[in-house]
Amino acid sequence: MFAAPSNLCANPLLSAATNQPNINYRVRTRSNTGTQMDISGLDSNGRQFKNPDEMWREEVGDSQKKNNWYTNGVGYWQGVEASMDGVLGGYGHVNEPDINTSEAFLNTLFAGLFPNAGRDQHLVALDCGSGIGRVTKNLLIRYFNEVDLLEPVSHFLEAARQNLSPENMLVSADHKAVNFYCTPLQEFTPDAGRYDVIWIQWCIGHLADDDFVSFFERAKAGLKPGGFFVLKENLARSGFVLDNEDKSLTRSHVYFKELFNRCGLHIYDMKDQKGFPDELFPVRMYALTTELPKRVGSSRPKRQSNRPAVIK
Ligand SMILES: C[S@@+](CC[C@H](N)C(=O)[O-])C[C@H]1O[C@@H](n2cnc3c(N)ncnc32)[C@H](O)[C@@H]1O
Repeated sequence: MFAAPSNLCANPLLSAATNQPNINYRVRTRSNTGTQMDISGLDSNGRQFKNPDEMWREEVGDSQKKNNWYTNGVGYWQGVEASMDGVLGGYGHVNEPDINTSEAFLNTLFAGLFPNAGRDQHLVALDCGSGIGRVTKNLLIRYFNEVDLLEPVSHFLEAARQNLSPENMLVSADHKAVNFYCTPLQEFTPDAGRYDVIWIQWCIGHLADDDFVSFFERAKAGLKPGGFFVLKENLARSGFVLDNEDKSLTRSHVYFKELFNRCGLHIYDMKDQKGFPDELFPVRMYALTTELPKRVGSSRPKRQSNRPAVIK
């Protein structure tokens, strides 16, 4: 999922920091097919692509190829142990900083978007690509009365069910995991108006661009009025990086922005993850709304003012 070119490093969480493609940030519009991005990228064997279209044509250009893409993506995770280390590519220890940063972000979002949270508001979340239920168990279940989990790998979902069973949980009876959907994002349509928050962490890279867009279009209808998405994902420093092994794409901020545009989504806020090992891809959280944000505060992540900037 977090894959870097495997000729550079063996662990799938590692970043291709030293092997990023040069990119051209121009985005030009095309009439029928939406938008073509003039962003070059590379794959984990170091092969260069002129633009995403060139890469997607090869990877998902016909129905057989697309089927292989998704079969291989899920197939990769089917061979992974259902543990914290498994879903975090051997970096189980990033769980704590990950959850802490997510929680701070969620609190900021609640303050701005759900000022009445906790007071008579029954909140419902969906954890997409939930793996073993790590994000739900450590974060979402404390903030939401109901959490649904969606995960295509059955042994992960089974582990999630165990991890979130009442006897393994410390939270109160009115905070519980409710539905466990064993299905991939590209085939999922949420119940209309069920969710306050749809959380998508470290799984959207498995979706081809067209499925990315159609997933969000369907998922928008799954939000309650005023609900929002949180997308937490690895970021390519430029362009894109295709992982040939697990069939996932690490996109750059420019690439994400173009896709959000196509989905009709607005960036309400965003925040960068801190405290991860340097060799990992940078990680960014986006809060996405369907309406234009009233507060267009942070179009770029805020730098913490009491800390010196790090020159890399
Ligand atoms: C790096 S793990 C992250 C798991 C979890 N979000 C977490 O942060 O602990 C990636 C997850 O994406 C799931 N995944 C792979 N392909 C997917 C797809 N097409 N739709 C939804 N999830 C997918 C994998 O099975 C795996 O559980």
